[in-house]
Amino acid sequence: MINLWKRWKALEAKGIMGINRRNADYVLKYNKRSLYPIVDDKIITKQRAIEAGIHVPEMYGIIETEKEIEKLEQIIGEHSDFVIKPAQGAGGDGILVIADRFEGRYKTVSGRIVTHEEIEYHISSILTGLYSLGGGRDRALIEYRVKPDPIFKSISYEGVPDIRIIVLMGYPVMAMLRLPTRQSSGKANLHQGAIGVGVDLTTGLTLRGTWLNNKIAKHPDTTNPVDGVQLPDWDGFMKLAAGCYELCGLGYIGVDMVLDETKGPLILELNARPGLNIQIANDCGLALRTHKIEAHLADLKERGIQETPTERMRFAQELFGRVSTAAV
Ligand SMILES: Nc1ncnc2c1ncn2[C@@H]1O[C@H](COP(=O)(O)OP(=O)(O)O)[C@@H](O)[C@H]1O
Ligand SMILES: [Mg+2]
Repeated sequence: MINLWKRWKALEAKGIMGINRRNADYVLKYNKRSLYPIVDDKIITKQRAIEAGIHVPEMYGIIETEKEIEKLEQIIGEHSDFVIKPAQGAGGDGILVIADRFEGRYKTVSGRIVTHEEIEYHISSILTGLYSLGGGRDRALIEYRVKPDPIFKSISYEGVPDIRIIVLMGYPVMAMLRLPTRQSSGKANLHQGAIGVGVDLTTGLTLRGTWLNNKIAKHPDTTNPVDGVQLPDWDGFMKLAAGCYELCGLGYIGVDMVLDETKGPLILELNARPGLNIQIANDCGLALRTHKIEAHLADLKERGIQETPTERMRFAQELFGRVSTAAV
């Protein structure tokens, strides 16, 4: 705890954003309440993304009622791997990643054997709202299991790493790569025990990491360095994230993306209240950057200009690079 406090103190000088400021000056100011369902329900997000031509993991089916659980077998069909998740879940809770079939049963990504009945029971728990944001009834989403690009083999354990970019009014602010560990059971959520690694916005090169609020240089399971890794197709990720503003209309979001070995960059989900840990992973505060974007927006408004996703990406890459310019 003391360690963490010291780190936040040191970051204050670098424009760290606290939870109150995030809520008052960003979430409340830029995110219209009526638009929340688009990001708080993964099924709606997926439908919107498909309409906008943005790639997402393919949806195999939706289960909405107890009665519909009997459709599971039909939804899974011939697939030997798939993912079941609560439409309104968060933080990786309630996500079941099935990697294979095993003698009439299923095998999770961490090798646990589960029966068909156990999966049905899991879906039933999802429907009751056990894992959902509001605690009300929810829907279960069954989708394609992402196979991570081989680039991540040396720096992640099982599961799928994801790339989070914070985006303000369509301008990328800061990025982080999240790496699953043995502890996080194949999920890339920090509170499940995944590692957060900062990413240079200009180049897509990884910086140092944090794990359970400690600074780290190596992956605890694979022992390979987590910094200095070049993420492939970095501009592709940046453009995808910038374009999510048009997709959902929310001004302050966290865009979560994955890199599939055959399907390339895919959007996993959008968050209307993105966490603040990304600042620790990047050893840099969000506020200096968001202020620069807000000043730029005010200037553009005066001149009656609106920038495209590519222009917004370039703006962020010119100003917020770690390597290129005076970093903020
Ligand atoms: N379709 C998928 N294939 C493989 N892994 C997935 C899939 N969907 C989610 N995951 C894993 O679970 C994590 C959390 O998923 P996400 O959809 O972002 O839900 P949450 O809102 O709970 O964070 C991801 O970062 C990823 O590691
Ligand atoms: Mg997520």
